[in-house]
Amino acid sequence: MSLGIIGGTGLTQLNGLEFIKEKTIKTPFGAPSAPFVIGKFKGEKIIFLARHGKPHRIPPHEINYRANIWGLKKLGVDEIISVVAVGGISKSMKPMRIVIPDQIIDYTYARKHTFFVKNLKEVTHIDFTHPYTPSLRRTLIKLAKKKKIKIIPTGTYGCTQGPRLESASEILRMGRDGCDIVGMTGMPEAALARELNLDYASIAIIANWAAGKSDAEITMEDIHYYLAEGMKSAMKLLSGIVDTKYR
Ligand code: HPA
Repeated sequence: MSLGIIGGTGLTQLNGLEFIKEKTIKTPFGAPSAPFVIGKFKGEKIIFLARHGKPHRIPPHEINYRANIWGLKKLGVDEIISVVAVGGISKSMKPMRIVIPDQIIDYTYARKHTFFVKNLKEVTHIDFTHPYTPSLRRTLIKLAKKKKIKIIPTGTYGCTQGPRLESASEILRMGRDGCDIVGMTGMPEAALARELNLDYASIAIIANWAAGKSDAEITMEDIHYYLAEGMKSAMKLLSGIVDTKYR
């Protein structure tokens, strides 16, 4: 078993990762966001990828999700934990909290969203009833309980196209649709992982109230501040998962 960690905004490098080597991979879908960093985390080999590149420069709609997921598979990863920044829509989804989402609604468009395009033996439709791998989610939730890390164990992640933030009415509509949190990078990443049979779960860090959910303007300064705070718990979860699953 081998673990891949995809870091989002606020996580371009994994503190505590003992560097072994960097691997640049060519894929049939073009270049991944950055070289894959192979290293030891808590004594176990893992592979880390900065989703927005290093430095952080690739906007959500320009990320080559296919190359990223393909590259991880090629390097032998069979489980991915992705860290994502989100805005909070539902009342309980307060900035700095951590959510282990269980559902997705996809509002993105014009992204390269599937590996199944040509030269297919047959038309394939993946089952996506439970978009995040239930067993991997359960492990994260159990671990949070054991380590007394406060998390919200379920939530529906609405994925918008970006890079702009949403209008207040868009967020109201997303709330009516059943979205609890909103981000820009959860899709097509989760579906691509499923297409390649990789287990996939997310740790979502709430960086701000979504548009119209507070009186304050959403600023990048605030987002970075709350993300940094939430990241402390996310890091505890990541190190715990390595301890739990990989020894
Ligand atoms: N909307 C979309 N993506 C985000 C947000 C948001 O409010 N905050 C962090 N990522």
